[in-house]
Amino acid sequence: MNSYKNAIIFGGTGLVGKYLLSHLRKKNIRCIVASRNPFSKAYTLKTQTQPGFLEFIKFDLDHLDEVKKAISNSHIVINLIGTLHANKKKFFRTHADIPEILSKLCKENNVEKFILCSALGADKNSKSFYKISKAEGEERALSNFENTVIIRPSVLEATESMLSNLYATIASFSPIIPVPKMNTYKIQPLMADDCAKAIVSAIKTKDNSKAIYELGGNKIYTFGEYVNLILKIIRKKRIVMDMPMSLAKLQSSIFSILPFKPLISRDQCIILEEKDNVVSGKHLSFQDLNIKPTDVEKEMERFLWRHRASGEFSKA
Ligand SMILES: NC(=O)c1ccc[n+]([C@@H]2O[C@H](COP(=O)([O-])OP(=O)(O)OC[C@H]3O[C@@H](n4cnc5c(N)ncnc54)[C@H](OP(=O)(O)O)[C@@H]3O)[C@@H](O)[C@H]2O)c1
Repeated sequence: MNSYKNAIIFGGTGLVGKYLLSHLRKKNIRCIVASRNPFSKAYTLKTQTQPGFLEFIKFDLDHLDEVKKAISNSHIVINLIGTLHANKKKFFRTHADIPEILSKLCKENNVEKFILCSALGADKNSKSFYKISKAEGEERALSNFENTVIIRPSVLEATESMLSNLYATIASFSPIIPVPKMNTYKIQPLMADDCAKAIVSAIKTKDNSKAIYELGGNKIYTFGEYVNLILKIIRKKRIVMDMPMSLAKLQSSIFSILPFKPLISRDQCIILEEKDNVVSGKHLSFQDLNIKPTDVEKEMERFLWRHRASGEFSKA
């Protein structure tokens, strides 16, 4: 092995991955990204790094030889794989089976640390398959490999973020914005870049085996407050209406038989009916990683203004 540290990142082509790669590069950690589709996804990411720093391999659960070899040459294994839209089987395959396989490979190969990106609210007692499968993945990883560290973020914000861009887009054509649980369900959004910084800090932190870090941003919002904030930033007046859960579930059922993603999936409806998506205080947090979360509102001002009436030129 060379004197640089090597990290292999599963799901490194996603939202957090893009930010993480740039932080790992600054720390001189060489990266291998394992992707189901390295050919289509590698090229844009590769242009952002110096030659030799970033390599891609194919991630195929049925053919793990290449992955095993890459893990055997890695000091750190990071799993950022996740999905929001799936059925029970796919949620468990993605959030529980993959961490189980990777954590076993970490043990076999004596890697230094396995970082598993889970989600705030991961809970085996939930009725949501997303939350149960995330909790199951955590449990399997923690029991398979001692040096596992769990990262549980709340909603992630970034230029590419799904949530704020979705509601800003709805506001571009609809005078009414339906929001389920608008006055009761609370979220604690944070920047995806801060989540990436937290992962790097967790890698560097000594003696944090089996640690669980819950990550939330600097402010808690109800879902309705958050949509109103988005509207304020993009300077659009719209009627924000509480969407009855029965209607939210009906639209998710209709969309489940159509080739489009629903506004809110059935599983997300269940999540909205359960606990708020905020830091519980029962685990470690940003503070323990010496990170002060970025002001999300200020950042949203910077990337959402392209949704204003005259888009990016409205500033002129
Ligand atoms: N985004 C959020 O608001 C949020 C909130 C809480 C927790 N999280 C969790 O934080 C982690 C990182 O989030 P993210 O937003 O960066 O994730 P993401 O962009 O949605 O997905 C990351 C990557 O996972 C891979 N992936 C997705 N489904 C897969 C499957 N069935 N099998 C194998 N690979 C699969 C994809 O990589 P390839 O296509 O290249 O294989 C994708 O680029 C995830 O575990 C997510 O669940 C995210």
